[in-house]
Amino acid sequence: LKFRGTLHQKGEFPFTILPKDGVVVIPLSAIELKQKSSNFRITSGIEELDKMCGGGFFRDSIILVSGATGTGKTLMATEFIDGALKKGEKSLLFAFEESREQLFRNAIGWGIDYEKMEKNGSLKVSCEYPEVSGLEDHLIRMKSEIESFKPTRVAIDSMSALERVSTKKGFREFVIGITSFIKQKEIAGLFTSTSPTLMGGTSITEAHISTITDSIILLRYVELFGEMRRGITVLKMRGSMHDKHICEFTIDSKGMHIKQPFKDLYGIIAGEPKFVSRSELERLDNLFDDIK
Ligand SMILES: Nc1ncnc2c1ncn2[C@@H]1O[C@H](COP(=O)(O)OP(=O)(O)OP(=O)(O)O)[C@@H](O)[C@H]1O
Ligand SMILES: [Mg+2]
Repeated sequence: LKFRGTLHQKGEFPFTILPKDGVVVIPLSAIELKQKSSNFRITSGIEELDKMCGGGFFRDSIILVSGATGTGKTLMATEFIDGALKKGEKSLLFAFEESREQLFRNAIGWGIDYEKMEKNGSLKVSCEYPEVSGLEDHLIRMKSEIESFKPTRVAIDSMSALERVSTKKGFREFVIGITSFIKQKEIAGLFTSTSPTLMGGTSITEAHISTITDSIILLRYVELFGEMRRGITVLKMRGSMHDKHICEFTIDSKGMHIKQPFKDLYGIIAGEPKFVSRSELERLDNLFDDIK
């Protein structure tokens, strides 16, 4: 409030009290945008997705994977970690929705052995319920785990779970705190976010995170002929060309497989896919020909 004779930072700062460190203040609003950025690409763990992203994610970027429940967000985080392993990199997974056993079982179902990865030191899985502590404490714990394990990739599954236990302002500060820390370390971060509706829609989490993230990947259910199919699209990717198609993908015991783009369909992202007939497409194609 007052500090005679010198300039000081104004505003509110979150703080927490920890067993060994005493009072820890988190100077979130004081974080400056001064990270370096690199052109180095890393794999997403899925070859087809790398192609859609113009060669992979950037090494020091933040990627948001958004989709309804069961669309395959945890799978994308798992593939991201597996991609790191194949390049000899280390990953850290913060899970807030599922238990260790559940996560390990899921990964085995996709042909990825977390237990082996943890044993040889290329992975650390950190599971906690979001409710066990405040977001400030989560932030400090996550930062110190990143600091000590020194991973090149961090996955957070999911951000929406953390959002539940905090206020809007607290959540935004947490997001800024963790993203700027990950960027400072020049490593890649993949966050997942659950959309509240099964078809289409966005969530508050996205509204909070999307401007801070460098890339956004949308996973969507597509209802076709009485079947729930899945679609993936790269919605944004800062600093790079990327595929604008919505491609179909399937999940099996080997993970995610991206296939052809959905053709002659519109309204997928809005959650109401509708077919356009071939003749209508041709009519639209020729619509502006007369003007030329
Ligand atoms: N071994 C497998 N073979 C085929 N499909 C599988 C397999 N394991 C999971 N699936 C499919 O993947 C889906 C779950 O994917 P995932 O756990 O990544 O979803 P999610 O988006 O993280 O969901 P949530 O919001 O509940 O966390 C299941 O609904 C199932 O259809
Ligand atoms: Mg999940």
